[in-house]
Amino acid sequence: MAAYEYETHTYDAIVVGAGGSGLRATLGLAEQGLRTACITKVFPTRSHTVAAQGGIAASLGNMGEDNWQWHMYDTVKGSDWLGDTDAMEYLAREAPKAVYELEHYGVPFSRTEDGRIYQRPFGGHTTQFGEGPPVQRTCAAADRTGHAILHTLYGQSLKNDAEFYIEYFAIDLVMSEDGQCQGVVAWSLEDGTMHVFNAKMTVLATGGYGRAYFSATSAHTCTGDGGGMVARQGLPLQDMEFVQFHPTGIYGAGCLITEGARGEGGYLTNSEGERFMERYAPTYKDLASRDVVSRCMTMEIREGRGVGKDGDHIHLNLNHLPKEALHERLPGISESAKIFAGVDVTKEPIPVLPTVHYNMGGIPTNYWGEVLHPTAEDPDRIVPGLMAVGEAGCASVHGANRLGSNSLIDLVVFGRAAAIKAGEVVDRGSNPSLNQASVDKAFDRFDGFRHAKGNVPTAELRAEMQKTMQEDAAVFRTDETLAEGVEKMYGVAAKLDDISVTDRSLVWNSDLMETLELTNLMPNALATIVSAEARKESRGAHAQEDHPDRDDENWRKHTLAFVNGKVDLEYRPVHLNPLIGHNEGGIDLDKIKPKARVY
Ligand code: FUM
Repeated sequence: MAAYEYETHTYDAIVVGAGGSGLRATLGLAEQGLRTACITKVFPTRSHTVAAQGGIAASLGNMGEDNWQWHMYDTVKGSDWLGDTDAMEYLAREAPKAVYELEHYGVPFSRTEDGRIYQRPFGGHTTQFGEGPPVQRTCAAADRTGHAILHTLYGQSLKNDAEFYIEYFAIDLVMSEDGQCQGVVAWSLEDGTMHVFNAKMTVLATGGYGRAYFSATSAHTCTGDGGGMVARQGLPLQDMEFVQFHPTGIYGAGCLITEGARGEGGYLTNSEGERFMERYAPTYKDLASRDVVSRCMTMEIREGRGVGKDGDHIHLNLNHLPKEALHERLPGISESAKIFAGVDVTKEPIPVLPTVHYNMGGIPTNYWGEVLHPTAEDPDRIVPGLMAVGEAGCASVHGANRLGSNSLIDLVVFGRAAAIKAGEVVDRGSNPSLNQASVDKAFDRFDGFRHAKGNVPTAELRAEMQKTMQEDAAVFRTDETLAEGVEKMYGVAAKLDDISVTDRSLVWNSDLMETLELTNLMPNALATIVSAEARKESRGAHAQEDHPDRDDENWRKHTLAFVNGKVDLEYRPVHLNPLIGHNEGGIDLDKIKPKARVY
């Protein structure tokens, strides 16, 4: 057994991760007087939410008529009828409240002439249950909305006495023999000390796993750490086959150019200068849902109408927009285009390509953020003491495809919901128990990788995983590419047993940290490709060319992937019941019945 000295910290609640959902949960917990700690591997305001640009969806109706039922309908349709009805309703209904709270906390939203929060159009957000024109629903702070939210939530959390453990890497969950979460084991990167955070509630807010792919808008820190920790405890990951490609990553660099650019009037063209989206999505054109736009761009390139010397990308045009509008509404992406593509957006188009952006799948939860360990008898069974929020979790509110700007609202609505629920279930008078065997196991695993003497460098194995995922679990998939991908990924994952770590120190050992991150990425990647191979239909972001139609009869169900060397799949039903009935002001269920998804 590895012998590490460690310090034990006891809290009512701990939150792992300090992005939008982690900070909103931290703030909500601390506001209720719960002793709360937030453990984060990067400084809070450097979490990936800082990169969120275009905005946060809520039916405030500041720029025209809107209501939560229309928002819910768009979310249901965007999810391609895979989202859970209760979670989608909760999101749409609570969104305005959550945004006004942010405003009151101090988020510096852009303003309309009369001082209200500015809202812009975004893909897939419409009026009249998809029958009317696009709606301006996305609340924005120029094109730096995530940055504004993150700074505000961090300040408010400090004000409410939440404690922060910054640059601490969570190694593993601590679990009791009977499956209750008791906290995490963590490593302080800065001074090499080891820590056990013992808590009555653990909230995983660790973000997505975009870095399982070669080209992603996600930060290099997006390594699916929560998913990795959960998978190692024999708990499932849900709907991992649904990986979102954002239509407008900068060609080559992969950096995000916000959908807000098209919301403000930008449009895509092919090598013939044609606004091709008009052909594919005659009503909403460039503001169709992301999965649709990404597929259309890929088809244009495949059919020989890509731009550039290799004909392998597409143009995003903004140069017809007034300079003042670009300056006021899109300053961040104007700068990114200059730095990463050498383009002056007032004069030239930006070269763009669909780029991995978001994971719809994650750790299964209910709409309170409580983690689920479903069984056939009880598909909604809760794991006591464990929650997951934000991109790490799968509520499931985005189903098979997320609408743009529904991510930031997911972070704050469900971060807030988790805090409310924890406030109800945490017994303030008790002390958390601690399973020493689980703590020891985490240290043993850590020590094993710290002293790994294999032949495969971490960076080499990571690149192999990323290229395999990029090639075989792409925008379009076939039986053949997926089957090949599964075989290759099992081979890649097996090489973790032969990993080479050369630095044995404990202080800022980035070799070891990246290795631990790779051990988190790997189960996420495996779950993704195996779940994708099994799903014989096309739905949302899962475009299976050998099974081009959505098959509600057989496949309107959530995939559960248990990763333990190999991946075992099970399924659980989609929640079809709303929280409130139509007579009490809820949505008319007829409006959200499955139908063809056209934009
Ligand atoms: O395009 C964007 O600004 C991204 C927003 C989102 O993913 O929600």
